[in-house]
Amino acid sequence: MSKPRIWVTRRLSDATLERAARDYEVVINYEDRPGTAEEIIAASAVFDGIIPCHSEHFSSEVVAQFSDRLKIVANHSVGVDHCDLPALKSRGIVVTNTPDVLSDATAELAMLLMLGAARHAVAGDRIVRSGAWDSWSPAFMVGKQVTGARLGIIGMGRVGRAFAAKARGFDMELHYFNRSPLAEELTQGAVYHDTVESLLGVSDFLSLHCPATPETNGLMSAERFALMPAGAVFVNTARGALVDEAALIGALDSGQLSAAGLDCFQVEPGGNPAFSRFDNIFMLPHIGSATGQTRDAMGFRALDNLDAFFAGKAPGDQL
Ligand code: 8YV
Repeated sequence: MSKPRIWVTRRLSDATLERAARDYEVVINYEDRPGTAEEIIAASAVFDGIIPCHSEHFSSEVVAQFSDRLKIVANHSVGVDHCDLPALKSRGIVVTNTPDVLSDATAELAMLLMLGAARHAVAGDRIVRSGAWDSWSPAFMVGKQVTGARLGIIGMGRVGRAFAAKARGFDMELHYFNRSPLAEELTQGAVYHDTVESLLGVSDFLSLHCPATPETNGLMSAERFALMPAGAVFVNTARGALVDEAALIGALDSGQLSAAGLDCFQVEPGGNPAFSRFDNIFMLPHIGSATGQTRDAMGFRALDNLDAFFAGKAPGDQL
């Protein structure tokens, strides 16, 4: 029997590509640029499955133009805001993601951003690197202490809980908002808040770990930043769409926030040029899950989902 034809839209890890090429008839985009709408539509006519990243957009307009061959979109990501799930499902296309395997890497990056933002990592590095470090005083680069502080987590899913586990190592007092409270064995003493507003009031540090959906779009507005304790630190490793970036700038300008750590932006790639004037924003280019170990695990998880599907079973991560 001939092998299913699969399009791998980006240059995934070597181990992933080797396994994909062993088990499928694959076309790999070694050029490694995002697939366009036209390419995705054309692929639906000649591939049985696609392994996309969040850089390929499966909007309802794109899906409406699909041919009938494509059977599965096995995402190489946990977030699926680049996919119109109802549109894909209405075409009978199975959609999967890669949960669990990136939780630790993303939580590590959130910790890096939180610590780096709180302790002036960007400004400090710049001043030493540029040779401008010509004085020292006890008042120099005084930051905000993480140990023992109150941490608010919005979205206590897998990544939120992995971040909470790491924050416990810093003796942080944990608070969270989630659509519903979780079992104590999952939250281990973290205090549940039934509104975002209530959580914000106790968040000396705040970290976002919820998906981008129409409901969470612009979640962090000017009104909500204003509810945080003065001098709070804001961290986002989830999605840029969750944040009103003009409101974030306002909160930094007013001192409501003392710093921010951002791995996600409304416009990606590129980010927001208006952020560049802030020494107290620690920015990274959407690399939350970018460790070698996690990239392999994400690729393998996407392939596990494909394998199950083409073996006639339900993929473990079917959405
Ligand atoms: C990935 C991510 O790097 O998994 C996600 O949702 O945002 C990132 O960790 C990216 O999506 C890979 O496609």
